[in-house]
Amino acid sequence: MTLTEILKLAPVVPVLIIEDEAQAVPLARALTAGGLYALEVTLRTPVALECIRRIAGEVEGAVVGAGTVTTASARQACAEAGARFAVSPGLIEGETAEGPVPLLPGIATATELMSGLRAGFSHFKLFPANVVGGVGALKAFASPFPQASFCPTGGVDAKNAPDYLALSNVICVGGSWVAPGDAVKAGDWARITKLATEAAGLHA
Ligand code: 3PG
Repeated sequence: MTLTEILKLAPVVPVLIIEDEAQAVPLARALTAGGLYALEVTLRTPVALECIRRIAGEVEGAVVGAGTVTTASARQACAEAGARFAVSPGLIEGETAEGPVPLLPGIATATELMSGLRAGFSHFKLFPANVVGGVGALKAFASPFPQASFCPTGGVDAKNAPDYLALSNVICVGGSWVAPGDAVKAGDWARITKLATEAAGLHA
């Protein structure tokens, strides 16, 4: 699957912080049951790679990716664990669109966007979206950078997501609101499926 195809699977890519590897499979099942298929497991906990491995092996319909990928070696490691895409909060020096797994790099400025385009990327995470200009910044990027499309992430929620999704250069949005930490901790998978169902139905 290409990165474009992955990002088009649903309007929202859940950003997940998983503390306990036993939560990985039920959480991924809860999200896919609601219609969210591309799942970003952030490499912020010691069990993240194992969670990616389990979701990749056990959850039909899920397309698992890694988030918070900040080095080339992390990109390699998540590919080996079964990640189908990688997301970074920024540009990783020396990394290009070619690599062991498709990469969605983060950018916050026009200069970073230009560096990313030079490295062969055409999809970017605007991060942290609500802080670095949000909808206004993306509107401003559309005319000078028609070849770039975005997954704004950071401060995006069910309320403001439609404003982002209405933009022609937004392919999807990312956010953690569909898998709140307390619901994951409590194993409240029904609540997460409900949030995912609502998110999957979002549009401009
Ligand atoms: C993150 O890095 O945690 C993501 O950007 C998610 O941000 P959010 O918690 O504001 O959705």
